[in-house]
Amino acid sequence: MSLVATIIVLFFHIITFFLFTTTTASSSPLGGITVDLIHRRSNFSFSRPSNTDDGSPYANTVFDKFEYLMKLQIGTPPVEIEAILDTGSDIIWTQCLPCLHCYDQTAPIFDPSKSSTYKEKQCVDQPDHTCPYEVVYADETYSKGTFATETITIQSTSGKPFVMAGTTIGCGHNNSGTMQSMPQAASGIVGLDWGSLSLISQMGGNYPGLFSYCFSSKGTSKFNFGANAVVAGDSVATTMFRRDDSYYLNLDAISVGNTRVETLGTTFHSSEGNIVIDSGSTYTYLPDSYCNKVKDAVGNAVKAERATSSGELLCYNTNDINIFPVFTMHFSGGADLALDKYNMFVENGNVYCLAIICGDAIFGNRAQNNWLVGYDTSSQLVSFKSTDCSALYG
Ligand SMILES: *[C@@H]1O[C@H](CO)[C@@H](O)[C@H](O)[C@H]1NC(C)=O
Ligand SMILES: *[C@@H]1O[C@H](CO)[C@@H](O)[C@H](O)[C@H]1NC(C)=O
Repeated sequence: MSLVATIIVLFFHIITFFLFTTTTASSSPLGGITVDLIHRRSNFSFSRPSNTDDGSPYANTVFDKFEYLMKLQIGTPPVEIEAILDTGSDIIWTQCLPCLHCYDQTAPIFDPSKSSTYKEKQCVDQPDHTCPYEVVYADETYSKGTFATETITIQSTSGKPFVMAGTTIGCGHNNSGTMQSMPQAASGIVGLDWGSLSLISQMGGNYPGLFSYCFSSKGTSKFNFGANAVVAGDSVATTMFRRDDSYYLNLDAISVGNTRVETLGTTFHSSEGNIVIDSGSTYTYLPDSYCNKVKDAVGNAVKAERATSSGELLCYNTNDINIFPVFTMHFSGGADLALDKYNMFVENGNVYCLAIICGDAIFGNRAQNNWLVGYDTSSQLVSFKSTDCSALYG
């Protein structure tokens, strides 16, 4: 699933809406919170909508799709939901009864009528005084419903729950998208971008836009807020930019082995970042012309036979990942990330493919596996520390 910056949120009568926003009250020790994430693997059959019928270049290629889900409890008494962590969007939503259209999800669908703390937002200039929202993601997943305030409880690994009373959530009555095709579908999405409705923005004063995550392919992945999110020790940092409330970085170049491929720099003015860092996209996306240069460099470095059936994707008939070159991502300010081969090459039967899809500019979660990635909105830096994420915190 690509949950990226090209999200459309329609806020109706936003001014009225914010007049009714109550202050988020939190109860937790100062300091930090760490939560375990659920790592979900499913199939991802890639196709481009424009040419799916006539031998799409991607149609027959099934990739693994990785998503990282956070357990949240909503309401009183609390009901558990599992929502996809998405740094590429803002609102927190879950499927809600009554459903106009809901997809099948693993956990029971949230029933607001059973929660004593659920409160519909009031928008006085709407005919029915509700505050509707509609959110559409880049992969065509959507949720439509009404805004409400509700208590959210996050269970921390320390055992002390973090309670956020009066949190604005989307109660989704009409939801659809790629999540429904997964064997165990998520109940919604937790937005973590720079917008005022994201989880991180609503956490309140003690947690000022400071979070980190460590995504593992196998063991337990972690998400940290506040003091626990500090990336200490041997790390590199690069400036992040706020564009449409997403987190953008400047990627100067990529080295494929010893070949430095210049330069991505075209998507936006370079002072505003040129690639979005996104926890909700599995793969990395690069703009077409640059993507082709990177593929050429891989082609020059790899001697194995190309897998012809894979079309536009760069795949090889091999089961040996060691034949591939090391990728180094050069983010501005000297933040050079020498990636593991696992970050950039994915197995698909006896074929290995480059985990880069042409079009768009997204640094996805596969490439971030086994890096502790810290976001600090006050210093406007993203830090990276090479880490065995499955071994973190015992
Ligand atoms: C993924 O696809 C393969 C074949 O393409 C199938 O055997 C497998 O069961 C699928 N796995 C999931 C989790 O859907
Ligand atoms: C749900 O939303 C979709 C997309 O906007 C729309 O086409 C559909 O008619 C809606 N379904 C219901 C039951 O309202």
